[in-house]
Amino acid sequence: MERKTFYVTTPIYYPSGKFHIGTAYTTVLADTMKRYKKQKGYDTYMLTGLDEHGQKIQDIAEKAGISPQQHVDNMAEEAKKLWKKMDIQYDDFIRTTEERHVKVVEEIFEKLLKQGDIYKGEYEGWYCMPCETYFTETQLVDGKCPDCGREVRKMKEEAYFFNMKKYQDKLIKFYEENPDFIEPVYRKNELFNNFIKPGLEDLCVSRTSFDWGVKVKSDPKHVIYVWLDALTNYITALGYGTEHDEKYKKYWPADLQIVGKDIIRFHGIYWPIFLMALGLPLPKKLYSHGFIMMKDGKMSKSKGNVVYPEMLIDRYGLDATKYFLLREFPYGQDTIFSPEGFVERFNYDLCNDLGNLLNRTIGMMNKYVGGIIPENKGQKNKEDAEIEQLVEEKIHEFEQNMETIHVSNAIENIFQIISRSNKYIDETMPWTLAKSEKEEDKEKLQSVLYHLAENLRIVSVLLESSMEETSKKIAKQLNIEENELTWDSLQKYGKVKAGKQVIEKGEPLFVRLDREEEVTYIREKMKK
Ligand code: MSP
Repeated sequence: MERKTFYVTTPIYYPSGKFHIGTAYTTVLADTMKRYKKQKGYDTYMLTGLDEHGQKIQDIAEKAGISPQQHVDNMAEEAKKLWKKMDIQYDDFIRTTEERHVKVVEEIFEKLLKQGDIYKGEYEGWYCMPCETYFTETQLVDGKCPDCGREVRKMKEEAYFFNMKKYQDKLIKFYEENPDFIEPVYRKNELFNNFIKPGLEDLCVSRTSFDWGVKVKSDPKHVIYVWLDALTNYITALGYGTEHDEKYKKYWPADLQIVGKDIIRFHGIYWPIFLMALGLPLPKKLYSHGFIMMKDGKMSKSKGNVVYPEMLIDRYGLDATKYFLLREFPYGQDTIFSPEGFVERFNYDLCNDLGNLLNRTIGMMNKYVGGIIPENKGQKNKEDAEIEQLVEEKIHEFEQNMETIHVSNAIENIFQIISRSNKYIDETMPWTLAKSEKEEDKEKLQSVLYHLAENLRIVSVLLESSMEETSKKIAKQLNIEENELTWDSLQKYGKVKAGKQVIEKGEPLFVRLDREEEVTYIREKMKK
């Protein structure tokens, strides 16, 4: 039987500077969704890459005294190095300067030109250099760029336009028929009410003011507008428009396209319209996440408030970094990064809750039952029934949350199992049961330890998509084998095998941090 496919994409990033935790966040989110679907048996495909054309890149390279190509080559190495360090399981890395992309973009432009969707005209408008976007007078906010707030310049040039108006009704109809195409839905409403309903402007899709881009084949003094070039990466990477389009046929339309809220306009308007014009199906879902902010606003080098993922990973490990990103930033919203928040989550959640649960469980098993996972003996008592029910509920919620990309809530569900298990230890007091001579108490002790091992097995399965290393460490310490860790094993409570020898003394999963010291450390690093 053919497996169901799951195609997830990240935006392709501008190789303009070192990648910070904002970029890492999008990528980790996509990676986690991919791993989750893979765990569930899907045939998955994840795409990421770089958006290498445009004036901004040309300017940066010039300043650095190297060619734009050299600059983007260096940056592609950087990106790949970072994703390797973050163990991102992407299947393809597309660069818009690659021939496989450029060739298809050229053809797409010609096709749209031929069919009359693109026409030649003259453009006059307010241009934002950093965003490489023209705005109309009414779109400006206090005379500045509505996206980045910087100065705009009045510019005029011969240009090609895309006839967006032609597709306006079709787009509206699409949104009416697919009200949850964009999530969170408030982002869809914003886009719909502020940009789609008031009427679309035709979009300028070429530039003559710089040349670092894909040239219009039939009119090479024009360079193709960077967003038409960039957005098509999602299909060119799959071989669309070439002889080798097997992947395109297999994976398109994408199941999930993850983008930040700043680029939802491009993905929610232009991208669907380009696809309509090409007669191609639209992606199934666009998820728009919020921004990682700092106390003093956006991250910027000049403010000295940028957090780079390498710094966190080198000091606190990959899983702690991923845990923080995935847990701290709730569904769709902006959230402020704080060093205190990072250290607290590390200490409370990872050390106190998760680390302790594993430690206590292993310790008690060695102390009371010879280090062997015991049989689930005896009568099921109230505490057992309660905890089993809670675990089953949380597994269900986890799945619901992952399916709807509420990743932070899904991870919270795992930690609800963890803290409930710690409470279960306090309630059942295995140390008292161990002292008792009564047969009934001996059986109860076994049952308690069995439940703890089972809960940790389940935690290990649920953590696999977000914190693989930790998930593996838990399983290893409890001597749980791979075939006990499948997604299907979650169907029924009680799959951990009894009779196996657990580790005598496990390495702690996470070592408690000194709050003051680490907060200062992160702060200092942010300034550099
Ligand atoms: N090149 C375009 C995307 C083209 S996709 C066809 C672009 N690149 S970007 O590098 O500026 O941004 C890439 C992604 O990173 C966007 O989704 C953006 O929202 C995200 N982020 C940039 N800064 C961010 C934070 N501080 N927090 C969270 N995400 C952030 O736009």
